Amino acid sequence: MAKVYIKTFGCQMNVYDSARMRDALLVHGYKETDNPDVADILLFNTCHIREKASEKLFSEIGRVARGKKKNALVVVAGCVVQAEGAEILKRCHDIDIAIGPQNYHQLPELIAKYNRKNGRKIVADFPAESKFDFLPEPQKNAASAFLAVQEGCDNFCSYCVVPYTRGCEYSRPSKDILAEARALVKNGAKEIMLLGQNVNCWHGDKGRDLGDLIRDLAKIRDLKRIRYTTSYPSKITKNLISAHANCKKLMPYIHIPIQSGSDAVLKAMNRKYTVAEYEKIVAAFRKMRPDIAISSDFIVGFPGETEKDFNDTLELVKRVGYASSFSFKYSSRPGTPASLMKNQIPEDVKTKRLIKLQALLLSQQRAFNEATIGKEFEVLLTEVGKNPGQLIGYSPYMQGTVVKAPKKLLGQIVRVKVTGASATALQAELIA
Ligand code: SAH
Ligand code: SF4
Ligand code: F3S
Repeated sequence: MAKVYIKTFGCQMNVYDSARMRDALLVHGYKETDNPDVADILLFNTCHIREKASEKLFSEIGRVARGKKKNALVVVAGCVVQAEGAEILKRCHDIDIAIGPQNYHQLPELIAKYNRKNGRKIVADFPAESKFDFLPEPQKNAASAFLAVQEGCDNFCSYCVVPYTRGCEYSRPSKDILAEARALVKNGAKEIMLLGQNVNCWHGDKGRDLGDLIRDLAKIRDLKRIRYTTSYPSKITKNLISAHANCKKLMPYIHIPIQSGSDAVLKAMNRKYTVAEYEKIVAAFRKMRPDIAISSDFIVGFPGETEKDFNDTLELVKRVGYASSFSFKYSSRPGTPASLMKNQIPEDVKTKRLIKLQALLLSQQRAFNEATIGKEFEVLLTEVGKNPGQLIGYSPYMQGTVVKAPKKLLGQIVRVKVTGASATALQAELIA
């Protein structure tokens, strides 16, 4: 039986896409392997968001390709393919097939028909049909599963490649989303993370928003937890905020990226909100659900960011108080308006700012975790821990939690009491 090895880079959307490509190949009789040396298909799902990510990619493909089985096919998928187009085949001679993010339903056929003699192949267009209508139902999944409800982006932040690599905004109809959710739950999912590049822009059915979709999903009896990511601040509706108060299955956690605490920088980034508007949204979430955990993304060293702008970001962080966060140095991406801006910030300044911001964010994360010591809540156990007798899961607030528990509880929701905390994880005990 032919075997496929899959390596995924980038965001949760890519993790989801890899699972769907794997499912499509499983249906065609492939088996998955975690050993690239025995695989017949080597599939790399790539990310283009920052320079470092794309750089690492080609050396990784080369390294794995050197050890591959004779005649094994190297397939590259994802955002780098969309961004580079046919150039990617010139840049990396190990690649047999390159496939863009909107073409994944064509993958099994491309592989079946592939003949080296006819030349290497790239398919990276935005077809009229939706891949979602052709990809099979989930074949296997974990207790916590991803489900893409929205894809693409029309916001064109001046630094970002996503609108170019993923295409314009598209929402899946709720009928399809509910069917996929039921299939995931039938396969053992207890939690579903709804995904979208701007998940709260979902408008799959006329006049309905993500809050409505969440309420519909909550009616699936054996689905216990619902999450969503990532949200664009100015597109948050009252209906979504109120779902946090009246939909018990919706977890008290929201990822709501601000990027910068300076209005001037937000404007240059083409983000369509002000700092004050963002803080109002945060306050509205907290009013509905006082214990809600808030997380964000930040970019430091955007072109033209002054020391004062950067300090405004630090002040914003202090006012909001984040449970966790992702922060990055601005990375200039080809084809984006920001890459052409004159006032680029030197690398050493970016580094200094990032270190300072991350120290503050980490101290907030530690404080947030420590404040849960002594509390009781439910954890969905999804992984085996490093030490014997330990399982790992996530708290309602998305804190990684190490629990002393027998292996048979893997995939279950258990009640625990938090006994210890660090900046990155909680320790907890089972409660009978
Ligand atoms: N749609 C989401 C973000 C998707 S990309 C939103 O707008 O909030 C994930 C994160 O990568 C972004 O939030 C941003 O912080 C970061 N990012 C995107 N482009 C970047 C770039 N050119 N340099 C550095 N970080 C970037
Ligand atoms: Fe990129 Fe902005 Fe779209 Fe987010 S909203 S994906 S940062 S263009
Ligand atoms: Fe990367 Fe594409 Fe996701 S660029 S972050 S894999 S949408």
